[in-house]
Amino acid sequence: MRVKIVSIFPEYFVPLELSLIGKARAQGALDLSIHDLRDWTHDVHRTVDDTPYGGGPGMVMRPEPWGEALDALGASSARLIIPSPSGRPFSHSMAAELAGEQDLIFGCGRYEGIDQRVIDEYGGLEVSLGDYVLFGGEVAVLVMLEAITRLLPGVLGNAESLLDESHAHGLLETPVYTKPASWRGREVPEILRSGDHGRIARWRRDQSLLRTAARRPDLLGALGEGALDKRDVALLREAGFPVPDDGVAK
Ligand code: 6GU
Repeated sequence: MRVKIVSIFPEYFVPLELSLIGKARAQGALDLSIHDLRDWTHDVHRTVDDTPYGGGPGMVMRPEPWGEALDALGASSARLIIPSPSGRPFSHSMAAELAGEQDLIFGCGRYEGIDQRVIDEYGGLEVSLGDYVLFGGEVAVLVMLEAITRLLPGVLGNAESLLDESHAHGLLETPVYTKPASWRGREVPEILRSGDHGRIARWRRDQSLLRTAARRPDLLGALGEGALDKRDVALLREAGFPVPDDGVAK
């Protein structure tokens, strides 16, 4: 996958040399380049912003440098992502969809955002990480790119860890344990050491269901019809979580 990032703070992206993203780049799974928006300004101050039409606080990014940058970087044949607290919510399924793209461009806004005409001109997709406000899109791009990169073929050693993980199947992951079996008087649940793979699988499903019901009832409510079997429903009701008769938790 080819990814281009446009920002007025290219130094933010130094971490992309490191760790597994750095490895994905070295392997060739990810072809990443970082571009300074100010390279497409023409005045001595390299101005990228101006006051908002209609008044109001802060500054807005002017369209001309963005237009020149996005033309030069081939935005007409790429998917353009604009991080924004007003965007659609980022999720595992969006990451999986974007991981299937050939070419992505991330356009990092600062200040009050980018002139809307730029987003309209290139069909940009505005994406938000959650209900809070960051200074700019740079950190959001680091987050999104990490979520996308680990879904690219050949990047994770163990393909199974993708199938099992939180959000891939709509439930949170189970708690995990390693050695020693006893630590500060806290024991690893006996069942995980029993070697009974059937009981272990059931226990893990129970833990996923209970965690999800307690922490993210919205996820349980979003499961499809038939996602919970009779045992699941009984477990949740026993633990005091309400499950309607159609088996779909609300
Ligand atoms: Cl994607 N960008 C900014 N600037 N703030 C955010 C965000 C994105 N997601 C949540 N807050």
